Amino acid sequence: MSTSIYYAALVLHVVGITLMAGTSFIDFIVFRAFNKTYPEDLNQSEVLVKFLNRLQRFLGIGMGLILLSGITMMAKMHQVWGAQLWFRIKMILLLVVIFNGLGLRRVLGKQLNQLFATANPENSRWHRITTRFYLVQLVQLILFILIFILSIFKFN
Ligand code: HEM
Repeated sequence: MSTSIYYAALVLHVVGITLMAGTSFIDFIVFRAFNKTYPEDLNQSEVLVKFLNRLQRFLGIGMGLILLSGITMMAKMHQVWGAQLWFRIKMILLLVVIFNGLGLRRVLGKQLNQLFATANPENSRWHRITTRFYLVQLVQLILFILIFILSIFKFN
């Protein structure tokens, strides 16, 4: 594989990271706005809940680009990066990112929709979902920062 293809994959990697990490941050901001408007302003919170649902798709697209480009780069450099510590830790964190940011986020998004559709949601259940939502988003942002540090410093 030529160096140009490797660099093209790295560009795609950064595009995917921008999309996924950027969307995760917007997700956090929009959920905060939703939490401030609900239940006082139902019209506004409905718009925000729909927006939160849309964001899920962009998280998936970002992850797809990251994986595709990452695997392309590894086709050329697996013998170098594959053996290094930063890369191995990064792959473990990647699994947590997928579980947390795609898996748990999707489940919580569905629960939020169900609760939003209920006329008078139980307060404790509402509080539980809100706390979990914040936790998932916070963990996701911390994971991104850790992966950035590993990928740039490349500790070995
Ligand atoms: C959440 C997932 C991921 C994030 C946030 C992420 C982030 C990054 C960042 C910030 C860089 C440094 C880019 C630069 O040097 O300018 C990088 C490089 C790299 N990533 Fe990822 N990455 C992710 C997933 C993956 C996956 C799944 C693979 C492989 C299967 C991978 C393979 C690589 C490789 C080989 C490099 C080194 C490129 C180089 O310096 O030549 N990454 N990644």
